Amino acid sequence: MADRKPVVAIDGPSGAGKSTIATFLAKRFGLLNLESGAMYRAVALKALRLGLPLDDEPALASMAETMVIELQPTENGNRVLLDGEDVTAQLREKDVTQAASKVSVHPKVRALMVAAQQRMGAQGGVVMEGRDIGTVVFPKAEVKIFLDASADARGYRRFVQTGPSEGQPTEDAVKQELRERDERDRNRAESPLKPAEDAVLVDSTALTLDEVKARAEAIVLEKWKQ
Ligand code: DC
Repeated sequence: MADRKPVVAIDGPSGAGKSTIATFLAKRFGLLNLESGAMYRAVALKALRLGLPLDDEPALASMAETMVIELQPTENGNRVLLDGEDVTAQLREKDVTQAASKVSVHPKVRALMVAAQQRMGAQGGVVMEGRDIGTVVFPKAEVKIFLDASADARGYRRFVQTGPSEGQPTEDAVKQELRERDERDRNRAESPLKPAEDAVLVDSTALTLDEVKARAEAIVLEKWKQ
């Protein structure tokens, strides 16, 4: 294999299993696993804390310019520091999830995040997951996978993943929330979610997790040649 380790871009809609597959590939090939979505979530969290309107692009951009977001890869996803504070758990909260999809429509916010992501992957050796990694962040990534699944399958998996707990949303509510985010992510003017022309599409709707892992592994082995 070549000396330089590759950039593996994994894009796709929410709930398609990107994080699971990125974590698996990172371990299998000795790469750093970076969740680009966590950066938009961190922007959203700080905006909510400051009470900034989520449609105020200039205010969001100037906030994002000075905030420090660190992604620390771990065995199960990224630990995220926002201005030095561990906010990993807060980033998964529902209001932050919805707000992340809103702040990420703004070109000025995206430009800052994309530049930071490009710096993180400049030396190769990363699996980066997101929506625009293969199209915008690393258009020359050695490996591009677009991981998809039907909206129903993604909603169901998300619902099961959360596990039963008090105040847990119903399956319908989870699916509705996912649809709203999807709609915004796919239809925004700037860097909408779509497969890169040279991405390999994997539809996991009818596949088991092991099958998706095997397919992703085979794609990396096929594309990452000396
Ligand atoms: O992958 P995630 O669910 O953590 O992403 C949170 C939000 O950030 C999602 O609604 C879309 C947005 N996002 C983006 O626009 N571009 C990326 N590369 C990653 C995420």
